[in-house]
Order: sequence, then structure tokens, then C-alpha cells
Amino acid sequence: LDNGCLSIVVLGASGDLAKKKTFPALFHLFKQGFLTTNEVHIFGYARSKITDEDLRDRISSYLSPGEVSTESSESLSKFLKLIKYVSGSYDHEDGFLLLNDEISKHETTKNSQEGTSRRLFYLALPPSVYPSVSKMIRTCCMNQSHLGGWTRIVVEKPFGKDLKSSEELSAQLGELFDEPQIYRIDHYLGKELVQNLLVLRFANRFFLPLWNRDNIANIQIVFREDFGTEGRGGYFDEYGIIRDIIQNHLLQVLCLVAMEKPVSLKPEHIRDEKVKVLQSVVPIKDEDVVLGQYQGYTDDPTVSDNSNTPTFATVVMHIHNERWEGVPFILKAGKALNSKKAEIRVQFKDVPGDIFKCQKQGRNEFVIRLQPSEAMYMKLTVKKPGLNMSTIQSELDLSYSQRYQDVIIPEAYERLILDTVRGDQQHFVRRDELKAAWEIFTPLLHRIDDGEVNPISYKPGSRGPAEADELLSKAGYRQTHGYIWIPPSL
Ligand code: BG6
Repeated sequence: LDNGCLSIVVLGASGDLAKKKTFPALFHLFKQGFLTTNEVHIFGYARSKITDEDLRDRISSYLSPGEVSTESSESLSKFLKLIKYVSGSYDHEDGFLLLNDEISKHETTKNSQEGTSRRLFYLALPPSVYPSVSKMIRTCCMNQSHLGGWTRIVVEKPFGKDLKSSEELSAQLGELFDEPQIYRIDHYLGKELVQNLLVLRFANRFFLPLWNRDNIANIQIVFREDFGTEGRGGYFDEYGIIRDIIQNHLLQVLCLVAMEKPVSLKPEHIRDEKVKVLQSVVPIKDEDVVLGQYQGYTDDPTVSDNSNTPTFATVVMHIHNERWEGVPFILKAGKALNSKKAEIRVQFKDVPGDIFKCQKQGRNEFVIRLQPSEAMYMKLTVKKPGLNMSTIQSELDLSYSQRYQDVIIPEAYERLILDTVRGDQQHFVRRDELKAAWEIFTPLLHRIDDGEVNPISYKPGSRGPAEADELLSKAGYRQTHGYIWIPPSL
């Protein structure tokens, strides 16, 4: 990971994101030897006046040492010792000057000589303070070393609420930092099977000739959660499911599923192709959208009583290019549904001149299960074993828990933070990508905000509004009845 001092600063250190995701990811990296004690220092920064010990106590319950052993509890205490806390406000220089002093101290301690300085600022903060915090970092905390190094900032969605506000935020950040210094995290890009998409699509002869409008009938990208807003109602009510999940996570997945082959594996080449797909998306029509809101959503005291914020959405999208003309891409996300999973489902067209038509139970599908239980399986028709010449749906199944039994799949954040230290922007969202993503959804979002498109109420624990299933079949999706894929048990 390069040489020299590495300072990782988590701003918003006592917030939810930092506790639940950022610090645990750093701890996992530390345990695996990616962050070494003599090089790395971790700083927590926030407004509350607490001590180093207080911060360590607050986060340690989220850091599981793994298997209970002396070695693992030692690594936990070593990790906690690396963490220092600095308190200060988000819009005054004082705190940031203090932070800079603390960082510099550790950069020069070895023989009191200047070393290289690598400074990573992770903004685990509400976006409303991004502009002031980035300005303070720019003014007070940049790497000054003559021996090299860098300063990078990591930001999290929501990047604005629509095209205009997002562009404003991008312009503000863009004045302070160059694009190679800005890492916009979309944690779906850190998931194992999302990262696998590029390999699957472009390293397998199987898929190359099939991955197009001649063979594929429709593609679904689905996110389901079996719980509601759970204490995040205040945030969620302002954003809704499209801004929370679809405009970012699912759209990023769509890019990787639909893009053309990049010139090379260079991050800029990959991101160039993603932008092109986004720019080819056809404007979304109201009849291609079904919104839902689960019953009881407005009982949350932080949600307004007459809120029309969708907690569920199915959106049928079209890509206007040679490969995908006429193929519906169905993006679907919902909270408080009957299951928790995320998957990509590629449904193939019927076999032309099919001699088994009268018996066949369903179409070929290729399913990539992002979570839980990472897997990919290919649904196909085979002869039903036995004396009769009949057919049955079966599958070729690559279930990770079975095939890669000794491999621990890294958490998305762990991988992405490592990328920020390594300086690899492949799995981060570029400014023009973000803009193109907002261009697609902003008109629809404005119609929802203005009350012109309204959610249909659905029962918590259900599949969502029945109208969504009707839209799915209108888009040409054919559900296979009587077939269920059962993940293998070990
Ligand atoms: C976050 C959303 O970005 O992703 C949450 O804000 C959602 O609403 C979460 O629950 C889902 O992430 P994962 O990794 O659990 O699928």
C-alpha cells in the first residue's frame, strides 16, 4: 500500500455509518494486515466533546474480533489503540487546525523528520455539511509533505436530491478537489458478485453471443428488504426508495450488466462505458412505474402523516442502443416486503420452433444472487430422470458457500476503503456518471415530489402492490410456476 505514513480520518466518528460500517471495515483490514501499526493512524473527528477512550468504547461493540482467541482480542486492542479522537465543529477552522496538528505529529515522529504523507478523509456525515467540511480540509489539512503522498476524500450518497442539487454539490467539491482525489462510494460496487459481473460477461465465451436483444427477453434487478425504515424514517422520508436504492445501487448494477466491453480494465475505460449506457437510457414514462408505500409507514413519528414517499418502486427502463433496443430492464426495490434479497435475473427468450413446447415449464434464466448466500444459477430444461420422456426445470448452480468453503467474502466497505488507499477508482462513481444517473430519474422524482405520481398502499410482509406484478408481466416477464431454486445446505 505505498510507503510512509497513512492517516485515516473518519469525520462524523460517532455517527451510525462510522460505527456500523467504516470502523468495522477498517478493523477487518487491520486484522488482515493491510493497515500496519507503524504506518497507520486513525482519527475520529466529530462535534461531541469526548475522549479517545469514549470513542473506542462506543465503536468496540460493533467490532467483532472474529473467533474468540487471545490473538484476535489482542488485535482488537491493538486496533483500538491506533484510534485518536479530535473534537471540533464542521464549519470553523479551529478544530481542523487541531486535527492537522495531530496528523502532522504522527507524520514527523519518526526521528522528527518529514516523511511522505497520505491522508484519507472519510466523510461519514450528512451531505449538508460536505461543502463546509471539504473547504476546511482544503484550507487546513492538506498533505504538505515535500516527499510526496496524497490527500483524498471519500463521500457517501445522497449526493443531492436531484440533478440541480447534485450538480451544485459536485461543483462545490470540484472547486476544492480534483476528480482523482474524490471517491464517491456506492457500496453495491464493493459486493463480490457485482464485481464479478465484468469477469462473467467478458471472460466467458458462453455469454458473449447471448448477451443481447436477440436472445434476452428482459432483465430484472431486484432489491428487497423484509423490514421498514427502522429508526431512519427522518432521512428516508425526505428521499424515498428511488433515491435511496434505485438511482444509485440498482442503476450501478444495470450499468455493469448492460455496458459494452471496455477498451481495457483501466478504471477510466470502465467508467467511460458506464456513462455511455446511462446516456442511452430512454426517459421514463409514468405508465412504466408502479410505486408503493407500506401500511403503517406514516406511524413512524419522524415521518410526516400525509407523506407520499414511496417505500417500493418498480420501474421499467429501456436502453436505446444496438444491443438492447426493445429489452425491458426492470428495476425493483422495496422495504417491508416478504423477503430480503438482491438479485439480477436475466430471462431468455423462448426457443424458436420449440418441439417441447407443450411440456415446458419455463424459460431459461440466469440468476445472479448478490445476497444473501451469494450464488449464480442457470435455470434450464432437462429430461426428467426416469422412464418417461418428459421435461423438468433444473439448474446449474454455483453457490459460493459450497464451492468456496474456506473463503470469507469481504464486506463491501472493506474492499472499497482498501481501493481508496490504493488509489483505484474503478469501483467509485465518477462525476459525469452521477450526473447521467440524476438525469434519468429527476423528472420522475419531481413528479412524485409534486404529488403527480402517487404510491399504492401495500401490506408489510407482502410482495408489494399487485400492480407491480402486472407491470412486470406487461413488460414480458414470465414467471415460472412450480419451480423454486433451493440453495444447497452444507
Ligand atoms: C443503503 C440504504 O444504501 O443500503 C439502506 O440507504 C439499505 O436503506 C442499504 O438498507 C442496503 O444495503 P445492503 O448492503 O444491506 O444491501
